[in-house]
Amino acid sequence: MSVPSRRLRLAPSLLSADFADLASAIRAAEEGGADAFHLDVMDGHFVPNITFGPAMVRAVRKRTKLPLDVHLMIERPAKYAKEFAEAGGDTLVFHLEASDPPYEAMQAIRATGAKVGAALRPDTPFDRVAPLIDHLDELMIMSVHPGFSGQAFLPQVLPKVHAAREALDARGNGGEVAVDGGITTATAEEAAAHGATFFVCGNSVFASGTVPDNLKSLRRAVDAGARRAVR
Ligand code: DX5
Ligand code: ZN
Repeated sequence: MSVPSRRLRLAPSLLSADFADLASAIRAAEEGGADAFHLDVMDGHFVPNITFGPAMVRAVRKRTKLPLDVHLMIERPAKYAKEFAEAGGDTLVFHLEASDPPYEAMQAIRATGAKVGAALRPDTPFDRVAPLIDHLDELMIMSVHPGFSGQAFLPQVLPKVHAAREALDARGNGGEVAVDGGITTATAEEAAAHGATFFVCGNSVFASGTVPDNLKSLRRAVDAGARRAVR
């Protein structure tokens, strides 16, 4: 496996921030060297939780120039792609397990001009996404069952992270392998060693300590992980 030479990207998940003071959370994360922001959209159907829709994406868009990675934990990603792209989403990540067929979701997102990401729940095998790989800019491996922040990382997804990296490399696809859920300094390092290049971090950035320091610790962890890449 090739060690990625590009900068590994840290994407704080605003779900763990104070919704009443997102502007401060965004500033603090930028100060700490965040590379993108991750926005968790939940519809109460695909996952047993409800968060926010395009209006929130639009509000965040006004406060930062960093890319917005919009995680659509919704049943109808194809139907809503345009709204989320117009609100300012740079990458729209749909779930393989949603009701809309994956090709429809992918095409609907691509048609908006946004980058296309596909996410897999922890128990969805890598094979489900393999046929789509040439069309993806981001492959998101969920390392918790989607729905809530603050859950523990599921180490059984690490082989899938590795498989995703190998498959993208083999196809010459420079896309990101993202991990989402339970990312701490320890699990970030492990995921980086398995080939992840994009790290969604919620509670490890916003729940305690100071945001810039937390991000600097995560940065050291992912860089250390990439240096001891698992083959
Ligand atoms: C879970 C979300 C995650 C979550 C990450 O359904 O997709 O993005 O907010 O939060 P932590 O890092 O606390 O697990
Ligand atoms: Zn997410």
